[in-house]
Formats: sequence, C-alpha cells, structure tokens
Amino acid sequence: MTDLPKTLMLLGSGELGKEVTIAAKRLGCKVIACDRYANAPAMQIADIAEVFDMNNEKDLKERIYKHHPDILIPEIEALAVNILKDIENEGITVIPTAEATKITMNRDKIRNLATKELGLKTAKFGYAASPLELRNAAEPLGFPVIVKPLMSSSGKGQTLVNNQKELEEAWYSAIEGARGSIPKVIVEEFIKFDLEITLLTVKQKNGKTLFCDPIGHKQSKGDYQCSWQPASISKAQLQEAQKMAKLITDKLGGVGIFGVEFFISGDQIIFSELSPRPHDTGLVTIITQNLNEFELHLRAVLNLPIPTIIRNSPGASRVILSEDYLDSVKYMGINEALSEPNTEILIFGKPNSKPNRRMGVALAKDNDINNAIAKADKAASYVKVIKNDTLSTTY
Ligand SMILES: Nc1ncnc2c1ncn2[C@@H]1O[C@H](COP(=O)(O)OP(=O)(O)O)[C@@H](O)[C@H]1O
Ligand SMILES: [Mg+2]
Repeated sequence: MTDLPKTLMLLGSGELGKEVTIAAKRLGCKVIACDRYANAPAMQIADIAEVFDMNNEKDLKERIYKHHPDILIPEIEALAVNILKDIENEGITVIPTAEATKITMNRDKIRNLATKELGLKTAKFGYAASPLELRNAAEPLGFPVIVKPLMSSSGKGQTLVNNQKELEEAWYSAIEGARGSIPKVIVEEFIKFDLEITLLTVKQKNGKTLFCDPIGHKQSKGDYQCSWQPASISKAQLQEAQKMAKLITDKLGGVGIFGVEFFISGDQIIFSELSPRPHDTGLVTIITQNLNEFELHLRAVLNLPIPTIIRNSPGASRVILSEDYLDSVKYMGINEALSEPNTEILIFGKPNSKPNRRMGVALAKDNDINNAIAKADKAASYVKVIKNDTLSTTY
C-alpha cells in the first residue's frame, strides 16, 4: 500500500529530472529539486529548489537532513555517493539503492559486476593507472580502442585511439575529463556495432520486471543525437537482451527504471553500460508510450501498479542543441517545427547555453518508423537557439 503524497528529493535537476518532477507532481507529491545552478529545468516545476555542490558530503548531508524526504532520487552520477548508505540506514529510501548508485557511478565497478560476477558479454577491456599501464592494457585488445575515465558521463574524456602513438594523449584527455580524482582509465576494444540500443527495464517491488520496446540511438560528440522506438532487432536478440538486463538489475536490486545499453553486432548482443534512472534516449517514450519512462520510474519508486506498458506508435526523437555561449536564450522556428501533425517540441528551459548543450528535443510519431525519424529530424532542424536581448530568464 502506498499513501500519497510522498516527499521526493531529486539529486540533479536537468531535463530528465524535470520530467520526473512532472510525473511526481501529477501524483501530488512534494519535490525538492537540487542542482549546482539556479533555475535548472526541474527547479522550475518543483516545490523547493536547493542549489549546492552535490559532490560535497557535508553539504549533501545537510540538505537531506533539512528536508528529510521519504525518497531520494539520484538523477545524475556526480554525487557524494559515500554518504548514501548512512542515509538509507536512517530510513530514507535511496533509488534504486545506495549500493547500486555507488556501483553504477564507476565504470570499473559495474563492468566487474557484469563480467566477473554475471558472465555478461562485453567489449574486451583493461584498466590502467598510468600511461605505461595503458600501453600494456591496450596492446592485447588490438587497435582501435576507446579510452574512458573511470568516472565520467556524456562521453567526457573519451578518446578513440587508432595506434600506440595516440595513447598518451588519450591518457591525459581522460584524466582531464574525469569527474572526481581517481587517475585511472578503462580501455576497451572498439566494437564495430550495427546498432546500439537502450532497453528500458522497470524493476518493481511487488511486480515482475517489465521492459519497454528497445530504443535505437545514435551518439556523436559524447552525447545522444537521435533515438527511435522500436529498434529493429530479432526476437532472439531481444530475449537475450532482456535476460541480461534482468540479471544485472536483479543483482543491483532496489526499484525504478534502468536504461540498459547494448551494442548489436551481427547476431551478438554486447552489454555496454547502464543508468539506474531514466535514460536520455528514452525521452522518445513521451510520445510513444501510454506511460513514459518517467511515469514508469515514479510508479516503480512509489510502489504503484503498472498494469501494462503499451507502445501506441513508432516514434523518434532528435535533440535541439545550442551553438554558442549565450547568457540568456530564446527559441526561433517553433511554429514551423510544430506544423506537422504528431510532432512535439520540448524546451528544457535551461537559463543559458554553450556550444552543443542540449536545450530541447523534437519528438514525432508515425505508423512508419522512418517517417517518424524524418519528422523529428525536420522539426528539430527548424528550432534555433539565439540570444535573448529582451527578456531575462531569471525567474
Ligand atoms: N567499446 C566501444 N565500442 C564502440 N563504441 C563505443 C564503445 N564504448 C563506447 N562507445 C560509444 O560511445 C558512446 C558513449 O560511451 P558510454 O560508455 O556509453 O559512455 P557514457 O557514460 O559517456 O554514456 C556509446 O554510446 C557508443 O556510441
Ligand atoms: Mg552511455
């Protein structure tokens, strides 16, 4: 039984947190939205905003005790995760769990769990704590390889390396792009995949694990550019991906939605990584599903029933990026973008922009998946982020 409302504290208030907040407010919950900057997207909807450094253990603890939420929902990885166990011991639910949040924050922890404990197939990999170790770890993988900091997201500090000579520079990029102070990298065999997918996996307290239809996506410059649902994979591949996603999410435990990433190469399904929260490529579910990934997350988090997940139509998403550094923004081309039927534009409401910052997304649905993709692409292409001279975005 769930009595509502609950008080939820959201650690990270970007566009995904904003949608989680919308879902929470629809269920009458109270939301405290936290981030390192003011007027972050989720803060524009939440009941209370808290601006502080969530990597600072003392600050994070202080804010949690100040509000004493029922449930703590991490929406980003850059957190002082070491305090979460104490928080959990004091009776505050951490989503999915304090331990799972910690494991998924580090590429080595989740990779070791996937391969050594569960035997999941991944790209061949090694770890290195110095340029020399990196040479030794990369050699047996065969070039090209990808070098990544152990702690990073959105492709930060990642380099595709074609030969031994390029390795040293990749080491320094990784150390520079790393979040936190661990001077260690993972080096991976480069998989020439046909397709990469996200399998949204909903882990419930009292119900079985549910899956959304697989989402195909394309990444460039470290971020997702477009996604579509359903991704075309065989039934056997889907079953294999679901089996792997169930294994790893069961091992991590807790409740909520997980974005489980796979590479599809020929008939092989290769586990890549996983987010214990809604996934950016899953924004497409806002237009395709009866319950989008944020609503599913909330239902699982609040232990509410999910009788069925229905995908009403094929659909696609295309990100809207800014090109410049702007301290106040406005958007042009929305009329053109919305002139096609079954097309939506989400503007995240970020107070300022920088090159390649994700400011919004175009969503489209159509009975034909290729039309949906083309429609989302076209809609996004109309929208331009420009300097706003007339209006301050300060609320
Ligand atoms: N071993 C690999 N082989 C081929 N492409 C890769 C590999 N690892 C990462 N990539 C590409 O880089 C993207 C980002 O890598 P990922 O490990 O998911 O990091 P992040 O945590 O920044 O999302 C992936 O979605 C994929 O497109
Ligand atoms: Mg990823």
